[in-house]
Amino acid sequence: MTRPLVEIPFVEPQTTRRDFLYVATAAVAAFGAVATLVPLVDQMNPDAGTLAAGAPIDIDLSKIEPGQQVVFRWRERPVFVTHRTPDILRNLQNPQLISELADPQSDELQQPPYARNWHRSVKPEFGFVIGICTHLGCIPMFYPLPNASSPAQGWLGGYFCPCHGSKYDLAGRVFSGVPAPYNLPVPPHHYVNDTLVRVGENPAGVSFDFGSIRQI
Ligand code: FES
Repeated sequence: MTRPLVEIPFVEPQTTRRDFLYVATAAVAAFGAVATLVPLVDQMNPDAGTLAAGAPIDIDLSKIEPGQQVVFRWRERPVFVTHRTPDILRNLQNPQLISELADPQSDELQQPPYARNWHRSVKPEFGFVIGICTHLGCIPMFYPLPNASSPAQGWLGGYFCPCHGSKYDLAGRVFSGVPAPYNLPVPPHHYVNDTLVRVGENPAGVSFDFGSIRQI
């Protein structure tokens, strides 16, 4: 379903979120958080013009290792797709973490109704969020597990925005007291079969307009 990986070029941060600047982001590997560029996976079909117009993309989940994140492009935006391990799923339900989040129940309209749950996705094992900080539009860095380079004490895994220090957990839920006001948006998605997910399309019988979310 996918082409070989390509890299996102580094772009210096600017000041307005509508510029949608994509800055360098962090590691993709299962347990690393070293500063490398995130691989961006292009789709074989449809063509670029159709994709830019908003066509759905198909993602083969069998190619994503547990603990790994891969970045896809949909509507000219990066979509972070994460394969969550049992440890990650446990951390997402940690009471201490939940107490530090600004919108732990996803009350703000930043996701489709079927992703308004603790894992913000159709199935807990895979997460899909738009990788654009809801503050001013930088790309958050991926820090999947606590280690020496974690961005904060007590870190349980998540995203850190290098521009002004906003933090999100691995479901894209924003922490309290950071510049970013909202959780990362979740795109429409549904399972075509056990390993194939279509991003950009709702499950059968569900009507949700991605344009209705509060902020991207
Ligand atoms: Fe300011 Fe992310 S753009 S914290």
